Amino acid sequence: MTTSLQPAPRSRLGDWLNERLGLQGIAYAVPEHANSLPYVLGGITLTGFVILFITGIYLAQFYHPHPADAHQSVVYLITGAPLGDLVRSIHFWTAQIVTVTVLLHMLRVLFTGAYKRPREINWYVGLGLLAVTFGLVFTGSVLKFDQEGLEALQHNKEAAEFIGALGTWFSAEFSRSVPLLTRLFNGHITILPLLFGLLIAAHIFLIKQHGISPKVTPDAVSRSTAGEGESRFDVHLRRMAGYGLFVLALALLLSLIFPAPLGQPGVAGAEVTKPGWMFVWLFPAEEAWGTRALVIVPAILGGLLALVPILDRSPYLSPARRRGLVLEAGFVLIVIIVSGVFATLQPVAAHLR
Ligand code: HEM
Repeated sequence: MTTSLQPAPRSRLGDWLNERLGLQGIAYAVPEHANSLPYVLGGITLTGFVILFITGIYLAQFYHPHPADAHQSVVYLITGAPLGDLVRSIHFWTAQIVTVTVLLHMLRVLFTGAYKRPREINWYVGLGLLAVTFGLVFTGSVLKFDQEGLEALQHNKEAAEFIGALGTWFSAEFSRSVPLLTRLFNGHITILPLLFGLLIAAHIFLIKQHGISPKVTPDAVSRSTAGEGESRFDVHLRRMAGYGLFVLALALLLSLIFPAPLGQPGVAGAEVTKPGWMFVWLFPAEEAWGTRALVIVPAILGGLLALVPILDRSPYLSPARRRGLVLEAGFVLIVIIVSGVFATLQPVAAHLR
């Protein structure tokens, strides 16, 4: 009988490559449950990022990051650049998909207790990746410089003023020679991708060090699983690539049916749009407390997430043995969802000073 741990038969090309690249090194043992969808969500997010990097490089060849030309260069991208509209739409839809999968990945880690000893540091690396993801979505939504992008930029300026010295980089005054839009573009294509590269390298290193967290059973406790398992990592990688292709196909389909939107050039001072779904849930808080809510609410949520491994230190993985934390996390999630639905139904309101 063939077991999944036996190496797959290799072609002559496979043997040739193996001898030179040592590819057999990736066929190490991993637990079978690592191949199930909830445990591949991080991998799906990663393949989504690969699509974003490739399409982003193409878009950067036509985008002009100056306030006077940005919107027009996006119009050119859509109407004049070869396949520009399609590539831009794939970038847009993949960003939406990746935001969903990264949030689902974090919820999976939260509900299966995968942040527990010895994986606490990887939880914090993950929080860094989450911040980078939202930073990329935010800067990306400003770049198109239509009405929505301009309003996002104005909210950015007011939020930066609120945090004082810490927000200096985000203010227009930081550099008199380079406009804020151009610096946000730099953030989008250099600073944030670089941070992403460093954090994801640390994330993957730590996953390799500890192995995937054990399968959740009523008595399962958190421990390292490195070197254990009935499946192999190359099988896991193939599963990841398969899901990655599915993400690409979905983004392509959505792009063909609903091309990425672009509004009219922005009119400074007007407030007539709402942000995308990733930020719209902040709308009711902004209504109540003004633009400072855009800093305070994410800071509180980030702080609560940072407390998770500190407050929940029991070794058990089962949600039934961690009812307090699971109910609290569920409550916060419901508040965010209700807030988002409410904000979507609410008429647009002015929040800027
Ligand atoms: C761009 C964002 C992210 C990427 C690309 C990513 C990628 C991955 C990958 C490939 C894995 C292996 C398991 C899997 O595929 O699901 C993983 C595991 C893990 N991730 Fe992430 N991740 C991201 C964000 C996060 C966030 C936001 C958190 C939590 C705050 C997090 C915490 C963890 C932890 C603790 C593990 C180990 C899970 C286990 O052993 O069961 N990650 N991540």
